[in-house]
Amino acid sequence: MKTVAPLTHSKIFILDFGSQYTQVIARRIRECQVYSEIVRFDTPATEIAKLKPNGLILSGGPASVYDKGAPHPDPEIFSLGIPVLGICYGMQLMAHHLGGEVEFSQRREYGPGMLHITDSSQLFNGLGEQIDIWNSHGDKVTTLPAGFRGAARTENSKFAAIEDPGRKLYGLQFHPEVAHTPRGKEILQNFVYHICHCAMDWTMGSFIEEACARIRKQVGDQKVVLGLSGGVDSSVTAALLHKAIGDQLTCIFVNNGLLRSREEEIVQRVFGENFHVRLKYVDASERFLALLKGVTDPETKRKLIGNEFIKVFQHATEELLEEDRRNGARKHGGYRFLAQGTLYPDVIESVSIEGNPAQVIKSHHNVGGLPEKMHFELVEPVRQLFKDEVRQAGLQLGLPKEIVYRQPFPGPGLAVRILGEVTPERLSILREADTIVVSEMESSDWYYRVWQSFAVLLPVRSVGVMGDQRTYENTVVLRIVESQDGMTADWVRLPYELLARISTRVSNEVKGVNRVCYDISSKPPSTIEWE
Ligand code: XMP
Repeated sequence: MKTVAPLTHSKIFILDFGSQYTQVIARRIRECQVYSEIVRFDTPATEIAKLKPNGLILSGGPASVYDKGAPHPDPEIFSLGIPVLGICYGMQLMAHHLGGEVEFSQRREYGPGMLHITDSSQLFNGLGEQIDIWNSHGDKVTTLPAGFRGAARTENSKFAAIEDPGRKLYGLQFHPEVAHTPRGKEILQNFVYHICHCAMDWTMGSFIEEACARIRKQVGDQKVVLGLSGGVDSSVTAALLHKAIGDQLTCIFVNNGLLRSREEEIVQRVFGENFHVRLKYVDASERFLALLKGVTDPETKRKLIGNEFIKVFQHATEELLEEDRRNGARKHGGYRFLAQGTLYPDVIESVSIEGNPAQVIKSHHNVGGLPEKMHFELVEPVRQLFKDEVRQAGLQLGLPKEIVYRQPFPGPGLAVRILGEVTPERLSILREADTIVVSEMESSDWYYRVWQSFAVLLPVRSVGVMGDQRTYENTVVLRIVESQDGMTADWVRLPYELLARISTRVSNEVKGVNRVCYDISSKPPSTIEWE
């Protein structure tokens, strides 16, 4: 079993049976300052026992316990003496495996409900007699396993919460992890603090200290390179490594000519001047632009940019070695390690989509493509963290807000926001328009409230009028979306006055643009980027 759990901490493992809320459960537990990790539903009980979690949570899931091929846990997990909380399908599994009965139902109970607490249960400590809850289940438990008792009911279910406190086994038919169960957090707190006896030892301060120790142990006195993009993940990774190993880290920042305006300046200022990180700046803009000449197909653009990035990065590491030699550095074993800002959701995704043919909608080119080709050993110090935890770590490490709360920016940069051919002229039009969008979003306080806000340049010209002159110029589209994780998104209902201000400024100030449109498509069916 692959685990990234810190050994000395309290921890809860969440067995993932495919619920859309599994990650939310993990987040909620971490909000209790207790480390949580999502593991495969079929992790053997012997492996779980070895890792000594304080408690287990069985997530919900779309299956029915009687379905052929339904995911089942190793039944021995119920006899380890480790507290278990089954949520929804997780509770049905618990009842089913311990001798109770689950009734198959075609009708789902979905939406808000009222929970009546009928028995004093440690899980509901301090919650009174009834609470609002959120249901999303089809099947329900009709006969309890021996030793269990009902602890709460709803209008439709006698057994909305069940427990066998002697064996520390608990089940909830509703979802305590979602916001629609307003006091769900207290239920989870009761479970982790009072039933599992977890300590509140998962804090950013403790994470940073441990991560530094782990990095030092992994790399020893060897050298590490990191492809710094200026995004949150690679920036926090850089700051963390710098704290851990100082000058053994060199960051490579590649200017591919497709960056937003002042991007390279910000990164050089923050890392080179404030942090004194060893930073190698590579200006490869001309190479990239020459390569993109005449190219209009979106996938071809992405592939060309991704492959070129690898070549430029490889060349830069060779140059670094050369520079080290010239500077008379003692012989060292080269740059053996590559640091990457892989986050926890990437790690989980790769577990839960196993066996599912993942559909490639757009090929994403990040530094992620580097290691296979370059035989680096990976250092991934933030692979335990969710995005908001990475941000907290960044702030604690002293990174400025402009980096920590920066909106995502795609690896292929402005090339996927210029439809059609990427030329220096079109890049300059888009940069100017984008700068106006960002500055208006910032000054109206909207920038940090949305997921992304940017301009797109279309290969479409239209007729306009300016003064007494007829114009025939370019079209800029505003793409401003809200999203939790980029997987789905909706366009933001910005105040008309703000939209009007952006539109007026873009058409008045950016030479070559006479029309501004607002993209009102959600994802799906559209994507966030236009290519
Ligand atoms: P789409 O356009 O697929 O984008 O809806 C979802 C999110 O991913 C970002 N994105 C990328 N990020 N490399 C990246 O690092 C890429 O190639 C890439 N393409 C899209 C996009 O900005 C949005 O946040």
